Amino acid sequence: MAILKIARMGHPVLAGRAVPVGDVSLPEIRRLIDDMMETMRDAGGVGLAAPQVHVPLRLVVFHVPAARTGGEAVPLTVLLNPEVEPLDDTVQVGYEGCLSLPGLTGAVPRWRRVRYRGLDRDGQPVEREAEGFHARVVQHECDHLDGVLYPARMPDLTSFGFVEDVRRRLGAEDQEG
Ligand code: NI
Repeated sequence: MAILKIARMGHPVLAGRAVPVGDVSLPEIRRLIDDMMETMRDAGGVGLAAPQVHVPLRLVVFHVPAARTGGEAVPLTVLLNPEVEPLDDTVQVGYEGCLSLPGLTGAVPRWRRVRYRGLDRDGQPVEREAEGFHARVVQHECDHLDGVLYPARMPDLTSFGFVEDVRRRLGAEDQEG
């Protein structure tokens, strides 16, 4: 396993549309998944998308600690070729961060409840419903697959800033994804 270099905002790999993973059983894909998990852990993030490690494939990894769900933790999850759909019209605004925009945070509206589907590392289908922070993480990571970084989702950039300063101002929570 290896810790991979994380692309930062401005790198073209973060702005393009990633392509579906064809054969999930390829050793290169398995190695990429392992390396992404190690990279996410090393960076202290809750999620990571393949374009963030310079690989334009539709693949994300994430986990949500119990402290952030207010209930049960979401275990380390691999999603290949994910799809996300809202379950109702409710939108929640919350602070996010991103490993590709180190040190920054901003308030982003997201669907409060979503259903997501994809394949796990063994090519088996995954389908879950999520809400709150879990739903936010999934939407954030899947946006990376379409070249969308969270500032592009912000209707109001006055909440965008450096974590320590924004925290001082608001006592805001941040998400590193
Ligand atoms: Ni991110």
